Amino acid sequence: MKMGCLPVPASWPLKRWLGLGLVVFHCITLGCAQEKKVAKSKVGEKVGLPCCYKIPNSESLQNYRVYWQVNVTDVVLAYSGGEKIHEHSRYVNRTKLDLKNLTLWIYGVEILDRGPYQCIVQSLQSSPDKPGSHLLCGEPVTLFVTADFSEPNIERKITASSCESTEMVVRCSSHGGFPKPRIYGVLNNVSVVLNTTWESESSLSPYNVTGTLWLNVTKDINFTCFVEYDDFVMSTSLLLAKANDCIISTALPSYNVITASSIIIITFLLAIILAAKYLPRHACSRCSKNQESADEDVKEIMNPPKSSKVTCEMSSL
Ligand SMILES: *[C@@H]1O[C@H](CO)[C@@H](O)[C@H](O)[C@H]1NC(C)=O
Ligand SMILES: *[C@@H]1O[C@H](CO)[C@@H](O)[C@H](O)[C@H]1NC(C)=O
Ligand SMILES: *[C@@H]1O[C@H](CO)[C@@H](O)[C@H](O)[C@H]1NC(C)=O
Ligand SMILES: *[C@@H]1O[C@H](CO)[C@@H](O)[C@H](O)[C@H]1NC(C)=O
Ligand SMILES: *[C@@H]1O[C@H](CO)[C@@H](O)[C@H](O)[C@H]1NC(C)=O
Ligand SMILES: *[C@@H]1O[C@H](CO)[C@@H](O)[C@H](O)[C@H]1NC(C)=O
Ligand SMILES: *[C@@H]1O[C@H](CO)[C@@H](O)[C@H](O)[C@H]1NC(C)=O
Ligand SMILES: *[C@@H]1O[C@H](CO)[C@@H](O)[C@H](O)[C@H]1NC(C)=O
Repeated sequence: MKMGCLPVPASWPLKRWLGLGLVVFHCITLGCAQEKKVAKSKVGEKVGLPCCYKIPNSESLQNYRVYWQVNVTDVVLAYSGGEKIHEHSRYVNRTKLDLKNLTLWIYGVEILDRGPYQCIVQSLQSSPDKPGSHLLCGEPVTLFVTADFSEPNIERKITASSCESTEMVVRCSSHGGFPKPRIYGVLNNVSVVLNTTWESESSLSPYNVTGTLWLNVTKDINFTCFVEYDDFVMSTSLLLAKANDCIISTALPSYNVITASSIIIITFLLAIILAAKYLPRHACSRCSKNQESADEDVKEIMNPPKSSKVTCEMSSL
């Protein structure tokens, strides 16, 4: 893979030309003619860093001195005259040199292995025009290391709910990845910013990331959470359903109408039955009183209990 010195495409022609100008200037001052090489690896995997020289089939490593360096001055692995002359303590048993194309293989890559590497190749053979050892080439290659994040996990907690809306806290988290990620959400195709917190023991340790969103949902909505690190993206989707749909009274289903009217009818019938059973005695006392007052008005009181008995019998019939 190559990371050229290409400018970020600008939407505006003038800007683009200015950009190119700057890049050309940049390349002249920093020696951009020599393409910057990039290698990428995931933690725990192996990676091959390419070198600038390939030993011809007619020759062997005997005639060369090869240095693989990191961070400009640290020697990772060095060979001279076919013998290993140096190995960095951090890389012991983790590296291997390809004896033909001088690729440096690193096994069980760690986050700490990231950085700018360089292979330097010298010839040990003297020639009339070049006495002693001389430099054949030196080329940098940058190693980027990533660690995969776990699949994002989405949790939601409802904080308040009414017929019209549901208020909720949506939390998306992912852990164990590198480098420091970006986390964002998408609500039905519209990107949203999440309130983000990162956790890591150091800037060169795996990260845990959590994004939080406060939402007032008035209808079901599709939420997708993205965790972006280096060139990789992990995502998880969840349908955020509105908590409760209240029934509007004007649109009662027929089943409810039947139940309600049945209850009313039964209550009414019960009332009539009860009334038929218990009203007579009340009516009795009342009508007997009425009778008494009527009798008082018209005639002298004669056997009031008798007359009341009669009315009672009549009303109960
Ligand atoms: C070097 O050789 C090895 C195998 O011999 C191969 O896998 C690797 O791709 C080669 N690298 C380059 C840069 O040619
Ligand atoms: C490297 O490998 C050798 C042989 O397998 C072993 O004896 C040595 O302990 C290893 N060193 C490290 C640092 O793992
Ligand atoms: C190179 O140096 C950087 C910054 O000091 C460090 O983070 C990184 O681990 C070093 N790389 C190696 C392979 O030592
Ligand atoms: C969301 O985007 C997809 C693809 O870009 C499109 O097919 C779909 O209609 C969009 N949905 C909405 C609700 O905009
Ligand atoms: C993010 O959350 C923290 C802690 O809960 C809070 O203090 C901060 O105001 C929030 N930021 C935004 C933009 O909501
Ligand atoms: C990251 O999350 C994992 C799993 O949840 C946990 O074991 C670890 O301690 C967390 N790391 C940090 C730095 O918080
Ligand atoms: C949520 O929406 C409802 C109705 O649209 C509104 O009454 C309520 O105040 C909103 N809550 C918040 C916290 O914005
Ligand atoms: C939600 O959106 C994601 C990404 O746009 C899509 O893959 C998924 O199928 C959608 N889910 C639902 C339930 O609509």
